[in-house]
Amino acid sequence: MLFPSGLVLTLMMTCVHALPAFTQPLMRYKWPTQFVRSGKAKIEVLVQGAGPTVIIIPSYGRDGGDDYNSFTNYLVNAGYLVLRPQPRGTFGSMGPMTNVTLEDLSADIASVIDTLGGGQAIVIGHAFGTFLAKVSSVIYPEKIPAIVLAAPGGIYLPSNMAEMPFITGNTSLPIPERLKALQKAFFAPNHDAHIWLDGWYPEVLAMEHAAVQTYGSLTSHWGGADTTQVLELIPADDPFQPNSQWNVTTNLYPNRATSKIIADASHALFPEQGKAVFEAIIPWLKQQSSHI
Ligand SMILES: *[C@@H]1O[C@H](CO)[C@@H](O)[C@H](O)[C@H]1NC(C)=O
Ligand SMILES: *[C@@H]1O[C@H](CO)[C@@H](O)[C@H](O)[C@H]1NC(C)=O
Ligand SMILES: *[C@@H]1O[C@H](CO)[C@@H](O)[C@H](O)[C@H]1NC(C)=O
Repeated sequence: MLFPSGLVLTLMMTCVHALPAFTQPLMRYKWPTQFVRSGKAKIEVLVQGAGPTVIIIPSYGRDGGDDYNSFTNYLVNAGYLVLRPQPRGTFGSMGPMTNVTLEDLSADIASVIDTLGGGQAIVIGHAFGTFLAKVSSVIYPEKIPAIVLAAPGGIYLPSNMAEMPFITGNTSLPIPERLKALQKAFFAPNHDAHIWLDGWYPEVLAMEHAAVQTYGSLTSHWGGADTTQVLELIPADDPFQPNSQWNVTTNLYPNRATSKIIADASHALFPEQGKAVFEAIIPWLKQQSSHI
């Protein structure tokens, strides 16, 4: 199922060798991108690979580029079509930035699935992206049968953590203050938090934060729709999800949720452990994608 024909395999291997080393800003690479209309918004989507569709939704106030490049490569090499819709206000994506709801942002994801993804996709959300993955699966359960919740944070978010993205992502604040918050909230102790001083979009962060606040509590569908298959990836050093909350999701949804711990990683996760994330996901992903 994963390798339906020799042709796909051959094409993939050709692509593998053509992939660049990621040493420059994303915009310099001429990756195939497509624009998808969604209401008043126009969403730029990075399109890579061939196979069952996987969508990646990035974390708060950041784009879906560099942080996910190496992880995307692993998925492409494993035989997936990876779509990375860029949030409104990043790269070429544009649309209303005020009074935006999670439902609006879910509609953006649904348009991408319909236009480029063949009507069904497995959605991988990271941090804030997990909120959007959950809400999207509730509104469009037939389009999104399965979701990956990467660094979702705890259902009871520790109160001293809630403000962290608004310190790290507030580019008006002094760098030492932001760096301290990055180290505390987003990076495991032995990882260099400097790499995330860049890459924040304050206007996007404000738009997404307002959408989350307008939506209210997510606890009633912490595992997406009633039918959604869920893989939760919990970074071992993630202060947004202390280990007292490592079992919450699987206890709530024992029949459709699985959790895995990613060692030596915190809330940033993908730049910290992209390969380990891929290895944790792939057996589950193969199982899920055999159904779509
Ligand atoms: C956003 O919503 C508020 C309150 O509902 C309204 O006063 C305001 O005009 C809206 N802004 C835009 C840009 O639509
Ligand atoms: C960012 O920090 C500046 C300086 O402290 C502050 O004035 C501003 O309100 C902050 N912005 C947000 C969105 O919190
Ligand atoms: C979580 O589940 C594991 C495996 O079932 C168990 O060993 C562990 O004690 C549980 N932890 C908590 C905090 O409930």
